[in-house]
Amino acid sequence: MQRINASIDVDKALYQQDINASIVHAQMLARQGIISATDAKAITTGLEQIRGEIAAGQMVFDPALEDIHMHVETRLKAIIGEAAGRLHTGRSRNDQVATDFRLFLRESITQLLVQVRDVQRALLDKAEQYAAAIMPGFTHLQIAQPVTFGHHLLAYGEMLARDYGRLQDCQKRLNECPLGAAALAGTSYPIDRQYTASQLGFEHPCHNSMDAVSARDFAAEFLATASICATHLSRLAEEICFWLSPTVGFISLSDAYTTGSSIMPQKRNPDAAELVRGKVGGMLGAFVGLITMLKGLPLTYSKDMQEDKAPVLQVIDNLSLCLAATAGMVADLTANTERMADAAALGYSTATDLADWLVQELNMPFRQAHHVTGALVKLAEEKGCTLDALDLTLMQGVEPRLHDGVYAVLSPAQSVQRRTSYGGTAPALVRDAVQTARVRYLC
Ligand code: ARG
Repeated sequence: MQRINASIDVDKALYQQDINASIVHAQMLARQGIISATDAKAITTGLEQIRGEIAAGQMVFDPALEDIHMHVETRLKAIIGEAAGRLHTGRSRNDQVATDFRLFLRESITQLLVQVRDVQRALLDKAEQYAAAIMPGFTHLQIAQPVTFGHHLLAYGEMLARDYGRLQDCQKRLNECPLGAAALAGTSYPIDRQYTASQLGFEHPCHNSMDAVSARDFAAEFLATASICATHLSRLAEEICFWLSPTVGFISLSDAYTTGSSIMPQKRNPDAAELVRGKVGGMLGAFVGLITMLKGLPLTYSKDMQEDKAPVLQVIDNLSLCLAATAGMVADLTANTERMADAAALGYSTATDLADWLVQELNMPFRQAHHVTGALVKLAEEKGCTLDALDLTLMQGVEPRLHDGVYAVLSPAQSVQRRTSYGGTAPALVRDAVQTARVRYLC
């Protein structure tokens, strides 16, 4: 029973929040005349001593005492005696744990938000550096159209901007205080929930005592949000692995973010990127685990809910690691711009530009231009050359109205220069986009 019942191994991480909430609760009880000022003072002093003891690693954790709340209360009794027993007036571990957990997650999200910004800043800096570096843009992992490396990196900046917003939303929505809901029904003591809520930095007390002790959707929302963010990071991580493969060779990473092989001396493995790619599995698993635990639980508190903290703590740690590793890798990477540019010329990547030219210059309907371009690509294939190396007379064999103006759109460099529609990949726009993103993200 003791082994299955105890949660101290996990919830000891919440000791700061538990002590903060208890101090505010004791002060409220004294303000309301529910306990004496002397007892409140003794409680506060005792709790501060316990904070110091835990921080110094002096607290001996004992599964017989179940959780962090019982550890703190038991230790308080040993330090201040009788008065310790008055702290738990008008509250229960049910509202206590819900309060501690929200406080903990609120602080953790603040930290993660800073780290999301770190990744965005790294992306913006690289995007600025490589605003004009031409690379192939892919669909289906087939060469589609030339883009710039800066533009590609900025796409991740946008994903992370939405992740940032989702984390903020989650933090805002969880910021209601369960303390004083007591076991589930409220309490007959004249407590002041507005006071405790505001002292702990919450917007207001939770409006319904039964919801206060049984709601864990804030944890589910965080795990879903974190999983989406981790999914974005995993996509970038996969691209880093791809770009880094010697068969692609678009980027290099320093030894700081690669490891050697124990058997193949020439290897440089992108372990950090692979772990960022892989960790999302566990994070999504944490979300599925928690939401499944919650599904079908009757109101109000059931012990099932004690299983809520481990997945959240684990995801906070892992997301933090993934964000740090990603910021580090992005800052560290160097693009092989020549190799990228060469690849951008492969696969007839400017075929769309040619079709668009036929439309704009010869007033050809786009479908017909698509067809004509197909024939010209076939011609280039036969000659084993790129589109811009095709001889004009040869091209005129396919479409007699073609003239040498077409050569102004056939190279990858010309292609990206011309992509000037809002949000497009033209280097000048990418440079602007970096500046406006710096303001939008406040990086
Ligand atoms: N350790 C418990 C948890 O994390 C605290 C709440 C216990 N409440 C109870 N009624 N047993 O959920």
